[in-house]
Amino acid sequence: MGTLHCYSKTMQTKFKDAIIMNKTNAWNRIPLEDYEQHMQHENVAQAQLLNNLTNKYLQKHNPESALFLGISGGNGLEHIDINTTKTVYGIDVNKSYLEETKKRFGEKIKQLVLVNADISNSNESFLRADFVWAALIFEYIDIQKGFEFIANNIGESAKLIITIQSNNGNQSVSQTGVESIKLVKETFKIVDKDNLQVNALTIGFDLIGSEENILPNGKSFLTYEFGRDKNI
Ligand SMILES: C[S@@+](CC[C@H](N)C(=O)[O-])C[C@H]1O[C@@H](n2cnc3c(N)ncnc32)[C@H](O)[C@@H]1O
Repeated sequence: MGTLHCYSKTMQTKFKDAIIMNKTNAWNRIPLEDYEQHMQHENVAQAQLLNNLTNKYLQKHNPESALFLGISGGNGLEHIDINTTKTVYGIDVNKSYLEETKKRFGEKIKQLVLVNADISNSNESFLRADFVWAALIFEYIDIQKGFEFIANNIGESAKLIITIQSNNGNQSVSQTGVESIKLVKETFKIVDKDNLQVNALTIGFDLIGSEENILPNGKSFLTYEFGRDKNI
């Protein structure tokens, strides 16, 4: 069993999973500064919009327990009300993104827990969130697996906000001079909104709102607000 001989079978499996995750997921080959530079570029301007949307939905729902899927560098975490939101979890496949997020927000948000996991390949239950923020993650994961992950980590009454990208006939990766971002081009897929809605319904979530925001390059973000309530 080579260098893993002194660890239990469970630990060995976890190590192997981590190695496979790092090797296979293209997101692990994109430096955070490249991703953020791309997202902030004037042709893209997605970072600013996502920040505003995070703020809007956090203010609207005042969660006690929030879960951010594909948290990246923590864009929008500054809008967490640390007195109301007692638990904040962020999941990402890229460990270095989480390390930077911890540096940026760990001091202010003491309740921030960052987990390095592959959403498409994790059956773990970390928390029972009453608010899930899933922006631009379904483009890169198996939709059904994503909803299974959510189902394992959400409370009976909760809000689920999903933002997806609509290309409106434009190419998926905009020209910003950031070359590394093209590594995820192969894994990117346009998410079918009906498929989202069907999957949300299977875990008891109804669509309660939606909005479309047009971006400078003609693409747009579609944001869907789902809710489930144990009292209904
Ligand atoms: C397009 S970025 C979106 C980041 C952030 N939500 C935002 O809106 O700016 C996708 C993020 O999801 C992460 N990611 C991609 N596939 C993942 C997976 N299978 N499991 C966990 N995180 C993943 C990437 O590392 C990246 O941080």
